[in-house]
Amino acid sequence: MADLSCKYLGLQLKNPIVVGSSGLTSSLDNLKIISQMGAGAVVLKSIFEEQIKFETDKFLQSDNKQMKSWQETFQDIVSKKEFYYEEAYDYLTNYAREHTLNQYLSLVSEAKRVVDIPIISSINCSTQYDWQYFARRIQDAGADALELNVYLLPSDFDKSSSEHEQVYFDIIREVKKFVTIPISLKIGYYFSSLSHTALQLSETGIAGLTLFNRPYNPDIDTEHLQVNSSNMFSNDSEYTHTLRWVALLSGKIKCDIAASTGIHNQETVIKQLLAGADVVHMVSVFYKHHFEILPGIISGIRDWMAQHNFSSISDFKGLLSRKNVHNPASYERVQFLRLFSSVE
Ligand SMILES: Cc1cc2nc3c(=O)[nH]c(=O)nc-3n(C[C@H](O)[C@H](O)[C@H](O)COP(=O)(O)O)c2cc1C
Repeated sequence: MADLSCKYLGLQLKNPIVVGSSGLTSSLDNLKIISQMGAGAVVLKSIFEEQIKFETDKFLQSDNKQMKSWQETFQDIVSKKEFYYEEAYDYLTNYAREHTLNQYLSLVSEAKRVVDIPIISSINCSTQYDWQYFARRIQDAGADALELNVYLLPSDFDKSSSEHEQVYFDIIREVKKFVTIPISLKIGYYFSSLSHTALQLSETGIAGLTLFNRPYNPDIDTEHLQVNSSNMFSNDSEYTHTLRWVALLSGKIKCDIAASTGIHNQETVIKQLLAGADVVHMVSVFYKHHFEILPGIISGIRDWMAQHNFSSISDFKGLLSRKNVHNPASYERVQFLRLFSSVE
């Protein structure tokens, strides 16, 4: 029988299907199901700095009893004048941050206790201090690896591309100072020179690059004349953008590649592996069809491998990357040229 096992971020996976970071990976119950259904690994929902700030506000406003006691504590501290107001506020906000983080850390440690696949934690912060702090705590909770979810929209007219990109390097440098578990970086595609930057990022000592996060995109409602959001979930034809970049970067950058976005079935998993991905991250498809489809996808890959006489993933991984195809231009061409002329 075909062997689907593979290595990712230095971890041994039974197959290259990783359930990507999302709300689906934030509960222990789901993590158990994900493992039972046969996933190779899972990335937990990111802990967001905004989330921590939001929870802090909740602490200060809520009527909930436990919350209220913290409001009272806050009032106490202020009324006793033991601290300056700002210090009291810091005390509370730090508690709120701890509280949120502790819930997250329990998820990591509980998951490690009851689930037998690698648990990859994920953090999304915007300040160096928080990155360091969260990263160390997550490592101590037992995460097998850490994905840094960094999605910066280069929309500031006063910032050059290099200033914008420097932030990624600063974050990696700071986090690496504090943790020893493998780190992967999940990015979007807004880079002025993606191949060059991806290569440089891969030389920082990260173990993997996840291509790409799928951004929230705004849309316009022409009926009500207002801005709203576009589809939260990808569809099954959105994988080609990632496919191109996986193929272009495979064998060139110095870390693993995880393909993400629009991967909904065994065929697109196989395509990404042929392009050179080490693993795929899948999310939207599980929102649409739940985790029950996972065994079918895994057996579909196994059947395809048997049909093509591939006994292991390494037999075909990267077979159709840019480096290995006869016509590399097929990945670099962006204009339809002749194709256009035949479509009238
Ligand atoms: C509801 C939802 C929540 C998500 N939350 C996170 C998150 O917390 N951290 C993260 O790195 N990516 C998050 N993502 C992005 C996914 O991990 C994934 O990169 C993206 O959805 C593209 O993959 P897909 O086409 O398989 O959905 C989220 C996606 C969805 C749909």
